[in-house]
Amino acid sequence: MVKITIISTDSSKALAKRIAKKLDAVIIPAEITKFPDGESKITLKKIPRKSVILIIQSTSPPVDTNLLQLLSMISQARKFSSKIYAIIPYMGYARQDRAFLGGEIITISVIAKMLESAGTKKTIVVDIHSKIALKHFKIKIENISAIPKLVNYFKKMKIRNPLIVSPDAGGIIRAKEFARQFNSDFISLKKQRNRKTGKVKIQSSKMNLKNHDLILVDDMISSGGSIIKATQFLKKQGAGRIFVACTHAILIDNAEKKIRKAGVKQIISTNTIHGKTAKVDVSDIIANSIK
Ligand code: R5P
Repeated sequence: MVKITIISTDSSKALAKRIAKKLDAVIIPAEITKFPDGESKITLKKIPRKSVILIIQSTSPPVDTNLLQLLSMISQARKFSSKIYAIIPYMGYARQDRAFLGGEIITISVIAKMLESAGTKKTIVVDIHSKIALKHFKIKIENISAIPKLVNYFKKMKIRNPLIVSPDAGGIIRAKEFARQFNSDFISLKKQRNRKTGKVKIQSSKMNLKNHDLILVDDMISSGGSIIKATQFLKKQGAGRIFVACTHAILIDNAEKKIRKAGVKQIISTNTIHGKTAKVDVSDIIANSIK
């Protein structure tokens, strides 16, 4: 049987290793060196075999650099095989899935075209920001849910009288599914984002959250603004301990510290992005989608 080949840079190395183990795949490291002006020089350390080739790279910060490296690796791998799968555990730009203000470019649709023209046969992502983003792909794309894995992690924690909270209307389906699997109640906050400044406000009515531990469920945390505003509001309503379950913890500019300062007890994320909060391993669900 021809083995699967995995190509990844150092940025997704740990996750790539776990996926390789589960698929009995061989890994070809892609070495990155940087030119003084910031350009990446990418070198595959071995020639890929004619096999299914998985290119694994999250497009987390530095977003554009990681994206270009991903496209370059796909394009190079395409010379050796037609079965190129782009595994993008965290898919950046998925929030740019529609024009919110006049003149805005829907960049996720540009990325979908670039993945296709570089030679991708199929793309696999974990908890993409929105279903609308998926519609921009003409090539096959599979969106894997990390909710069951996050729920399992939380089931092992001692959460008292839990209530699941979506920080905004866009996250309702995700948080509702978490609540269903966790067997608990669910509420959603009303968040408003200023489309020019990016600042968020919570506009929900008062509620009584005494004696409840809360789990805020979101697809991603970037600056932490959404979670901080939600936490400040929930604390004012008398909430007990507040935990955060998210798939992608980008956590720019000391966001973790700021979130904890706002009153969050713990953030639990998956290893789609490597980091301190990444307690939940998604390598098995990614590997299962290849088999
Ligand atoms: C928004 O709809 C998303 O689901 C996240 O809540 C948001 O993008 C997180 O960004 P930030 O942490 O910067 O508020």
